[in-house]
Amino acid sequence: MSLTLGIETSCDETSVAVVEDGRKVLANVIHSQVDLHRDFGGVVPELAARDHLERLPGLLDLALEKASVQPRDLDLVAVTRGPGLVGCLLVGVGVGEGLAAAWDKPLTGVNHLWGHIYAAMLSRPDLEPPLLGLVVSGAHSDLVRMPEQGRFVVLGRTRDDAAGEAFDKAARMLGLGFPGGPALDRLARKGDPDRRPLPRPSLPGLEYSFSGLKTALLYRLRDLGDSVTEQDKADLAAAFERSVVESLLEKLDRALNEQPATEIVVAGGVAANTLLRRRAGEVVGHRARLTMPPLELCTDNAAMIAAAGYYGARHAANVDPSLSW
Ligand code: KG4
Ligand code: ZN
Repeated sequence: MSLTLGIETSCDETSVAVVEDGRKVLANVIHSQVDLHRDFGGVVPELAARDHLERLPGLLDLALEKASVQPRDLDLVAVTRGPGLVGCLLVGVGVGEGLAAAWDKPLTGVNHLWGHIYAAMLSRPDLEPPLLGLVVSGAHSDLVRMPEQGRFVVLGRTRDDAAGEAFDKAARMLGLGFPGGPALDRLARKGDPDRRPLPRPSLPGLEYSFSGLKTALLYRLRDLGDSVTEQDKADLAAAFERSVVESLLEKLDRALNEQPATEIVVAGGVAANTLLRRRAGEVVGHRARLTMPPLELCTDNAAMIAAAGYYGARHAANVDPSLSW
């Protein structure tokens, strides 16, 4: 048995986890900074970094207690090394380095994007590569192939905004505040996407682009002006959501046709979206088995970092997992 301590501080969630053999979550404590950033309408990097530093010691104690684990029982410390907000990453890496040195344990730096894929393996312990993955988060919309543990090949990504970023910006235009994605999701449930349809972005190949869709929403809102009703906003939220989700799934469908796979993973914060969760299964159909992590493992957490660290340290020792895939 091998125990990994995971630390995640790349953006606005502070999280510490203990994972057994890269698959079994013994503890996964998460503190969301949403309340801290709400008044600013977005994440303030400086505040985020300071809060990570203040919260980490308490979360560490809690995670070890929940997992009934002593530091001496640990085999590995895994910490998110990128991509993310630099000041926030530095806090996590600094604490990880300190703990590894104090406890005399090996330390491994983890690519946050790998973490999102490994979240799926926590929810399905029998899941093994090769697989096709779609990681949709606040900063990425990446289609990847994972031929084996600890190895990823990028097939397509976004040319401009990431899916989560697009949701957040659309939510702001609709006056929904922060965090935008979940609020837009809730509003879209009350709307009809056909009443005020928006274009579906379409680029050749496996690339994404959401900036045109964002502009289309801006123009619709401008045309409606002061006469915009709550129902109009709900309809536009539903239309925007449908365009993003259809675009994401169109490319997943294309990738699956071009590079058949038996396992598909859709993960990252946007994988919490209600419509995406519903439609992804329909698009994949019987061609492959689809795994979407449960909601608490879709958004940022340290359990996925511990899992990715466990496999990364074993299988990808020579890979520099710092920034992109
Ligand atoms: O993976 P994540 O927690 O953090 C990053 O690594 O970026 O993803 C956060 C993103 C945010 O843009 C957020 O608005 C979006 O995921 N998100 C959603 C939903 N829940 C979170 N977007 C649409 N619908 C949701 N239910
Ligand atoms: Zn993330």
